Amino acid sequence: MDEYLNKGIKEIIAEFPEIEEVLNDYDIGCGPCEVGICQLKDIVAIHRLSEDQEQQLMARIAKAIYPDQDIQVPQVEKKAEAEVKRFAYSSPMKKLVDEHVLIKRWIALIPKVVENLDVESEKGRRLILDGIDMIRSYADKYHHAKEEEILFKYFDENTDILQVMHADHTRGRSLVKEMLVALDQKDPKTIAENLMAYRDLLTEHIRKEDEILFPWMDNQLSNHQVGELFSKFDAVDRQIDLSPDKYADFIDRLEKEFEKQEG
Ligand SMILES: [Fe+2]
Ligand SMILES: [Fe+2]
Repeated sequence: MDEYLNKGIKEIIAEFPEIEEVLNDYDIGCGPCEVGICQLKDIVAIHRLSEDQEQQLMARIAKAIYPDQDIQVPQVEKKAEAEVKRFAYSSPMKKLVDEHVLIKRWIALIPKVVENLDVESEKGRRLILDGIDMIRSYADKYHHAKEEEILFKYFDENTDILQVMHADHTRGRSLVKEMLVALDQKDPKTIAENLMAYRDLLTEHIRKEDEILFPWMDNQLSNHQVGELFSKFDAVDRQIDLSPDKYADFIDRLEKEFEKQEG
């Protein structure tokens, strides 16, 4: 069984497809996850399972791999450490996760923005431009730049997972470019489609980062590197010509406006 702990979960599922169903029972959807960086031992360390659930899950996986044997379920290495880490991001990683919160609040408003889309009036165009500014300035310049220019540099950027993350950022940028062209051409259909596509893209992207990538990265980084990241993020925040509060205000205002409309 030990040999499987260090094997990629995707590889294990390919060999024993029934394991995918076992994982689904614990709400661990490895099958459709494109990330595919996790080894079996990471699955246990990253996902928020109780100790009992972990033991049950490992027992079922062992049974699927060795149906005819009574396998002793191995204790996952460095369990105590993993237990603490899975509930607590390092402080630089927590900063990125906290920034996701505002981006997720914006994403949650997108269907309402689309419903109210108005490319003709000054007020309608202003809202679209403010939304695009939220994406370009806060989500991209302020947040994605920290990931791409600092965090990801600590890892091998040729790995599938980082290629996927970069590709998601790039796709977000091209959706925004198309929105600006569509706004110029007063084409609400393309703006609406691109806003919704951005919403789907970022929802999945943030979920991958929060639940898989960042906990995994945290496990790989040394304490020294975590400290270094913290000060590099801090330096960027101090140097960048952008006020995060402005974007928090924009989201606050928009949430209130839509609430009023509903009420
Ligand atoms: Fe990202
Ligand atoms: Fe992110």
